[in-house]
Amino acid sequence: MPQQQKEIEMHTTQPIIKEKGITILAIESSCDETAASICVDGKILSNVIASQSVHEKYGGVVPELASRAHMQNIIPVVSECFQEAFPNQPNEYNVLDGIAFTQAPGLIGSLLIGAQFAKSLSIALDKPLISVHHMQAHVLANLIPSTKPEFPFLCLTVSGGHTQIVLANSPLDLTVIGETIDDAAGEAFDKTAKLLGLPYPGGPLIDQYAALGNPLKFKFAEPQIPELNFSFSGLKTSVLYFLQKQEPGFIEDNLNDLCASVQYTIVQILLKKIKKAVAQTGIKQVCLAGGVSANSGLRNGLQEMGLKHGWKTFVPPFEYCTDNAAMIAITGYYKYLEGQFCNLDISPAARAEW
Ligand code: KG4
Ligand code: ZN
Repeated sequence: MPQQQKEIEMHTTQPIIKEKGITILAIESSCDETAASICVDGKILSNVIASQSVHEKYGGVVPELASRAHMQNIIPVVSECFQEAFPNQPNEYNVLDGIAFTQAPGLIGSLLIGAQFAKSLSIALDKPLISVHHMQAHVLANLIPSTKPEFPFLCLTVSGGHTQIVLANSPLDLTVIGETIDDAAGEAFDKTAKLLGLPYPGGPLIDQYAALGNPLKFKFAEPQIPELNFSFSGLKTSVLYFLQKQEPGFIEDNLNDLCASVQYTIVQILLKKIKKAVAQTGIKQVCLAGGVSANSGLRNGLQEMGLKHGWKTFVPPFEYCTDNAAMIAITGYYKYLEGQFCNLDISPAARAEW
């Protein structure tokens, strides 16, 4: 009998050793992070992430290299995840009640690795498979910390690929009420950072230099977009045209003020729409999600706005804001409670409506 088959039989014949609660393993592989997490009754026991440094020299994620790195990382990441969650029985995969994975959106080759891994485990352990929408999971990351919003709440999800305002009525009743019509907020940070000669991803660097600069020194146009939607592509063009008119050495001499002014503009665009969403819905609990929520200007700006207008604001710890599997696990847990399982013939999708 082949070794692999023997191991699968071994797992399926062992008794389930469960200390407590509904146990979900989650796999996240939508972009360039290979991640796994285990939660029991919605409490995160482990959250392991392998980031892929292979993309650094290309100035962005190379899809083919991301898929290969997921292949290399997924088994060690899942093993470490079990080790962290259950140090006394790290090989006891039968403790699981369900296996959740990111089904969409993302890079298709990357999603395929996570999906195939989750499906294989689901077959081997005879446990239900749960498909998770990556953007819904970003919103539900707000339910991980012990201090969490009550329903209904609003969530501003800002990442490298998305910018959305979501109305959350319950864990599985989420509606996008506003989104970007072109670039995402993270792209706006990264693309303007590139114009300023900063390496990818430039968002965190803009944040760093902005702390030393004057946010009102340079004025960049804010777009007038209807409803609760956003646009960021004009900002990049506006910064480009502005820089083209300057003398050599201008960026070096004004880097802090340029970063502060760019950051101020992006944050103002985001906060104005959140203010509008609160006014329209009457909901005064506002959460942040996605990698850009690490931005100090945005965090401080939201907090100040909350204090001024009497809103409650929530920002999950950074490890749950950037791409991670804990947010997939918590979403998988709520889907498990509702019996929302998927069939084995489900395919990952690069794009997907909710
Ligand atoms: O959610 P995320 O980790 O990945 C996805 O895009 O799904 O978000 C990454 C984005 C990048 O655009 C990065 O530049 C931005 O988040 N980012 C920041 C900061 N930290 C990360 N942007 C501004 N300020 C930061 N401190
Ligand atoms: Zn994401």
